[in-house]
Amino acid sequence: MGLRRSRRRRESAQAAYEGAGRAAYDDTGRTAYDDTGRTAYEGTAAVELRGVRREYGRGAATVHALRGIDLSLPRGSFTAVMGPSGSGKSTFLQCAAGLDVPTAGSVRLGGTEITGMNENALTELRRSRLGFVFQAFNLLPSLTVEQNVLLPMRLAGGGSARQGRDRAADLLARVGLEGKGRRRPAELSGGQQQRVAIARALVTRPDVVFADEPTGALDTTTAAEVLGLLRSAVDTLGATIVMVTHDPAAAASADQVLFLADGLIADRLPRSSAATVAARMTALTAPAYAGAAA
Ligand SMILES: Nc1ncnc2c1ncn2[C@@H]1O[C@H](COP(=O)(O)OP(=O)(O)OP(=O)(O)O)[C@@H](O)[C@H]1O
Ligand SMILES: [Mg+2]
Repeated sequence: MGLRRSRRRRESAQAAYEGAGRAAYDDTGRTAYDDTGRTAYEGTAAVELRGVRREYGRGAATVHALRGIDLSLPRGSFTAVMGPSGSGKSTFLQCAAGLDVPTAGSVRLGGTEITGMNENALTELRRSRLGFVFQAFNLLPSLTVEQNVLLPMRLAGGGSARQGRDRAADLLARVGLEGKGRRRPAELSGGQQQRVAIARALVTRPDVVFADEPTGALDTTTAAEVLGLLRSAVDTLGATIVMVTHDPAAAASADQVLFLADGLIADRLPRSSAATVAARMTALTAPAYAGAAA
């Protein structure tokens, strides 16, 4: 009973979120207007999910990891995704980034429908049009910093050697690692390695950068610096970032925070302080526990 009530509340929050989404986007996501009728966002959405469901297993043992996600994220936006353990954050990120295939629904990235794409086409799209930043940095230890930054460009077959060197130098300067291109990752601190990973994620000017707990392995000060870099990639380079995080301080850097619960978007906040984000997380989990106990 209590559980059903809390499910209903989440579904109505999802509907309210959808309504808010429609205010900013028409059905195609191509043109959007704010309340004053001015054009708010030009071009197609960077990320668009429609009715995305992901189920694991079959029959009575089926796990509904995503129960129907509808979402449209404009280019040049920074979105944080939060939620309790098991709420579907990683599944959401994997489906949105073409690393996992939804059971139902569709995903569009930079206007391209990826649903039904074969693995080769998906790999190509991920290399050329998506960037990734992980908690564990995932740099290749045998390559120099510059070679690590340029790896996605090389894999995608883009640009001359000269263009590559210029691009790497520009990005390394932006992330505060000027002159460190010839070092190996092991010669850098954790924070510096994550800066290299951010430069690498931006090198192909991707449609979207997906970040999974990018500050999870960093101390508070270094985490704040890395978040500042992500923020400035959005503000000065027009990057689009979708970041999963458990940290309210990290989510406070984003333009909006989406809260997942039980495979649905249960709530959302516009840019807010860490204290507001933390309070909303507490509110999100508390009624479900109370409901389950009733
Ligand atoms: N490969 C899988 N097989 C079966 N169930 C899975 C699989 N991956 C995820 N799940 C289930 O799907 C649900 C959502 O998992 P997911 O990993 O997306 O949660 P999460 O929000 O990322 O959690 P955390 O904060 O702990 O990382 C959970 O109930 C999980 O047990
Ligand atoms: Mg996870």
